[in-house]
Parts: sequence; C-alpha cells; structure tokens
Amino acid sequence: NIIPVLTIDGPSGSGKGSISKRIAEKLGWRYLDSGALYRALGVAAIRSKVDLKNEDALADLVRDIELEFKRTELGNWSVLLNGQEVQNELQTEQVGDVASKIAVFKRVRDGLLAKQQSFLKPPGLVADGRDMGSVVFPTATHKVYLTANAAERGKRRYKQLIEKGISANLTDVIQDIERRDERDKNRRASPLVVPTDAVYIDSSLCTIEEVVQQVLNLLKNK
Ligand code: C5P
Repeated sequence: NIIPVLTIDGPSGSGKGSISKRIAEKLGWRYLDSGALYRALGVAAIRSKVDLKNEDALADLVRDIELEFKRTELGNWSVLLNGQEVQNELQTEQVGDVASKIAVFKRVRDGLLAKQQSFLKPPGLVADGRDMGSVVFPTATHKVYLTANAAERGKRRYKQLIEKGISANLTDVIQDIERRDERDKNRRASPLVVPTDAVYIDSSLCTIEEVVQQVLNLLKNK
C-alpha cells in the first residue's frame, strides 16, 4: 500500500510553510518542515563555531547532534536540538542565512536524508522544502512547486518578522531573499528545481486560503 505524500517545494516566502501546515491539518496528515531541520543545524553550527565552509566538520556536526520535533500545547511543532527547545531562534535572518550556507554541502544533506524520510507514516505526509519532490521523496504521489515574485515574498517575510517582534528593513529582506534564492538554485547538491512532474503555482496574487483550495483540488482530482 502506497502512503500518499504531497511535496511542496519553492523559494523562501512563497507561502509554503503556512500552506503545507494548513493542508496537513485539513487532511490529518503528518507535516515535515525540512527548512526547520536545516535551520536547527544552523543554530548548532553557530553555537559550535564550526567553520561554515568546512564540509567534513559540518558532516560530523550533523552526525553528532540530535534533532527532534515536538508538539506544543498549542498544537504547533517545535524543534529540539539535543533535547533543548530552539524554536524561537529558528526564524531569525542570521539563522536562515547560515542554514542556506551549510545546505549547499552534499554530506550535510545526506546526513539529514534518513531523518526526513522517517516522517513518512500513514495516513500521509505533507513535506515542505527545496528538494522534497526531487530528492527526498522522488516517488511522491503529488508534487507542487510554489513560488511568487521576490518583492511579494520579501513583503511577506518582512511582515512575519515584524509580527514576531523582530526588527527588519524591507529592502534588506528582499535582497536577502534574492541572495538566498541564488544560492539555493545554483548549488550543486540538490538545487532548488521544479520537479518534472510538479504542478507549478505562482501565489503572487493569491491569498493563502486560495492556494490551499487549489492544492486540495489537485489532490481530489488525481
Ligand atoms: O525554508 P526555510 O527558509 O526555513 O529554509 C532555510 C534554508 O534551508 C533555505 O534557504 C535552504 O538553503 C535550506 N533548505 C534546503 N533544503 C530544504 C529546506 C531548506 O536546502 N529541503
């Protein structure tokens, strides 16, 4: 029996996170936020002061740390690094930047592969990231590539930061998003690509609810 998997890949600020979470809730499926794993690894890298260009040292770090997701009382997921809550640190721009720097390395990505694949359990999985449909779950039953133009994505990310009480500058946020897109698309190991069999959705002019509906319709019609 095949366990259904919906992969949602795309650049930062495309709305992947909110949309994946809502769909998983509506379907009662599990949810994998793979970016949170790369971000938690980023926190570990900052703390251990490892050289962010040293693939071997980073691969050792992935092997030596323990990453878990825990349900909070409010029903959200929170990430534990070596048993300690790091959720509040994950969303900063610094951590996002470090995550995308260390995510370029093949050995780092390989170190997170089994952990990501272990999320696949009945009744189904929504997996959110950059390489979910292309590398981690290549045989997924449903694949979506979600994007929006960089200015719109920057505005969304800016709003999220401000709402969380993190100070930010819109121009810097947009520039940062463009820099990260570049890195994610041009790296050799598992670059951000549109999987061949994915449905391409541009969310620049859509609300989250509209995209959720669009994706749920895809699932119904297949
Ligand atoms: O999605 P999020 O912004 O939280 O991801 C942070 C960084 O982790 C991304 O910029 C990307 O470089 C990396 N990442 C990745 N592959 C994934 C998820 C995230 O390379 N599947």
